[in-house]
Amino acid sequence: MKHMVDVDKLNKNFFLHTQGEAKIPVFRDFGLELKPGESVALVGPSGVGKSTLLRLLYGNYKTGSGKILVSHDGGSVNLSGADPHTILHIRKWTIGYVSQFLRVIPRVPAIQVVMEPMRGRGASEEVSRDLAGKLLSRLRIPNRLWSLSPTTFSGGEQQRINIARGFIATYPVMLLDEPTASLDPDNTETVVEIIKEAIGMGTSIIGIFHDEDIRNRLASRCIEIQPINNHTCSE
Ligand SMILES: Nc1ncnc2c1ncn2[C@@H]1O[C@H](COP(=O)(O)OP(=O)(O)OP(=O)(O)O)[C@@H](O)[C@H]1O
Ligand SMILES: [Mg+2]
Repeated sequence: MKHMVDVDKLNKNFFLHTQGEAKIPVFRDFGLELKPGESVALVGPSGVGKSTLLRLLYGNYKTGSGKILVSHDGGSVNLSGADPHTILHIRKWTIGYVSQFLRVIPRVPAIQVVMEPMRGRGASEEVSRDLAGKLLSRLRIPNRLWSLSPTTFSGGEQQRINIARGFIATYPVMLLDEPTASLDPDNTETVVEIIKEAIGMGTSIIGIFHDEDIRNRLASRCIEIQPINNHTCSE
């Protein structure tokens, strides 16, 4: 079966230029396969590289070496080394990403932030606004906040804007970084439902779910990320 995502022999180090080029190795010969319709959870201790992996899969970070193959547009694209235009095309149609924190753009109203992925795909203002409003209502964002910039929103409100933006369009692959981390029980339940609906529509998921109960409800298997033995970085 063709994989949605295929990571092979991935290596990634960070270099801290301000601290004498200190090297932080995060991945060494790491591999992962995501099948169509599968939902996998990344597990491992804090600082092991879970969020870094999602950022690599979204093309936010460059790989050191290795392949990140993504099934896109009827073919297979290697994200490591893909040009920016291809990465943007993948983000528009193939891979969605809900980061842990919303990147707020000042002066852009919440509803516009949520509508953007649909507008980017060419949907009309009216259709996009309607879909965004339905999601915002479902996520209990009061109407009076829709026209305001999320800059001053609470952590949980910002996270729900982020989730609405992430789920307004459907993607073959979704990357989720602790999507329910700062939500109350009712909103957590709504977000779990939204994620389950996406899985039901065929979306494959790679997620980080801190809560074990939520992880068990959403993921069909876990991938454990092992810490790299830091002694090897001085060789
Ligand atoms: N942009 C960066 N520059 C330098 N080092 C980084 C950068 N991003 C992450 N790191 C380092 O890479 C390692 C992995 O970080 P990452 O955020 O992926 O961990 P995590 O597994 O998501 O942890 P948590 O469970 O706490 O969210 C950490 O040691 C971190 O300090
Ligand atoms: Mg993280």
